[in-house]
Amino acid sequence: MSNPNNSTPYLNYYWDSSSRENMQSQSLERNSDNKHTASPNSNYYNKHTASPNTNYYNTNSTLRTNELEHTNNDQNTLDNFISKPSPLSKYKILNTLGTGTFGRVYLCRNKTSLQHYAIKVLKKAQIVKLKQVEHIENEKQILSFVSHSYIVKLEEAFQDTRNLYMVLEYIPGGELFSHLRRVGRFSEEIARFYAAEIVFVIAFLHSKNVVYRDLKPENLLLDQFGHIKITDFGFAKFVEERTWTLCGTPEYLAPEIIQGKGHGKAVDWWAIGILIYEMIVGYPPFFDTNPFGTYYKILFCDLEFPSFVSPSARDIISSFLSVDVSKRLGNLENNAADVVRHPWFFKIDWLKIQDRQILPPIIPKYSFDGDTSNFEFYPEVPIEQEPENGIDPYKSYFVNF
Ligand SMILES: Nc1ncnc2c1ncn2[C@@H]1O[C@H](COP(=O)(O)OP(=O)(O)O)[C@@H](O)[C@H]1O
Ligand SMILES: [Mg+2]
Repeated sequence: MSNPNNSTPYLNYYWDSSSRENMQSQSLERNSDNKHTASPNSNYYNKHTASPNTNYYNTNSTLRTNELEHTNNDQNTLDNFISKPSPLSKYKILNTLGTGTFGRVYLCRNKTSLQHYAIKVLKKAQIVKLKQVEHIENEKQILSFVSHSYIVKLEEAFQDTRNLYMVLEYIPGGELFSHLRRVGRFSEEIARFYAAEIVFVIAFLHSKNVVYRDLKPENLLLDQFGHIKITDFGFAKFVEERTWTLCGTPEYLAPEIIQGKGHGKAVDWWAIGILIYEMIVGYPPFFDTNPFGTYYKILFCDLEFPSFVSPSARDIISSFLSVDVSKRLGNLENNAADVVRHPWFFKIDWLKIQDRQILPPIIPKYSFDGDTSNFEFYPEVPIEQEPENGIDPYKSYFVNF
């Protein structure tokens, strides 16, 4: 194996001991009736849904306390009555690629260059209602700030009176989720390839003090060649030490998020453990029909492996899935460098990962420009028109977008 540290410095960034301070190991007693049964008998098969603002998320300390105090006082300014051509008119909206809590992602085409893009359309009213203004601002700011071959590129962002728009590079190979569900589970060889690309990009984000917080197969796309592109920075955040927002997707939540103890970059390493398990086994290690059942299983962390999982895969997964963050792989003294040196990754040439030189195991079919056959079919819903009076009741919330 080449030494990745020579040319990939962020795989060896220094351990920030402050990020682990006060992160105590869990002292929950195991209840013998509470065995997690990792059998695919519930809804694991469906998409993991990130729930940003249900009741159990109300400890969210990053929400703006002044949100409810906003008024529409500034709505009568002249500015609201000057009609400006919407930047949206540059694009022809085509079919839906994916749906989410705040809106949809559509394929679109620039009318001049004829280039295809994915446009993420987020409803302002919904964002304000679910108190997600700050998360959406983070999404745009972080996507504008980071640039990496494994991260989807943000072309431009704009808004009109109803919606926010993020125009992204179109990644045509579909979600890793669909490819995984189609075949059931991946061989360890295939899982290792995707895991290596993901480790690489997460280490990069952490080196920029960005914690991603929503790692799951639905947010990992395959490009035309089959390499990973990570999308959806809706929960990403600049974090040097700890943060307290309770957000993410139940099956992928780290125990410290559920406990509301404050969390940091280590949550992404936990999620990589869940992801490797799900790729190899075909379903996540902890799931239940309701999120609370899932949280219970995560906190007890009773990990069971089917017999076909190799000893070294068991070891890396268990090392990521350490409830005690101070013992979690990726969050130890050498951070990501410990991950790349783990025996399960022994066959990986990290310099080739860096240069995207390993031939991907799945090469998506992409027959013509704007081919969307790798995405699920969604009944179409047109983008809501702007109101004729041009008034934007949410203007004051999105000045930073
Ligand atoms: N750049 C892109 N190219 C192709 N499809 C995309 C792109 N970005 C998102 N999608 C599709 O849209 C779905 C929803 O987008 P995402 O950003 O994850 O929104 P949400 O925050 O609602 O989960 C993704 O899971 C994916 O299927
Ligand atoms: Mg998503």
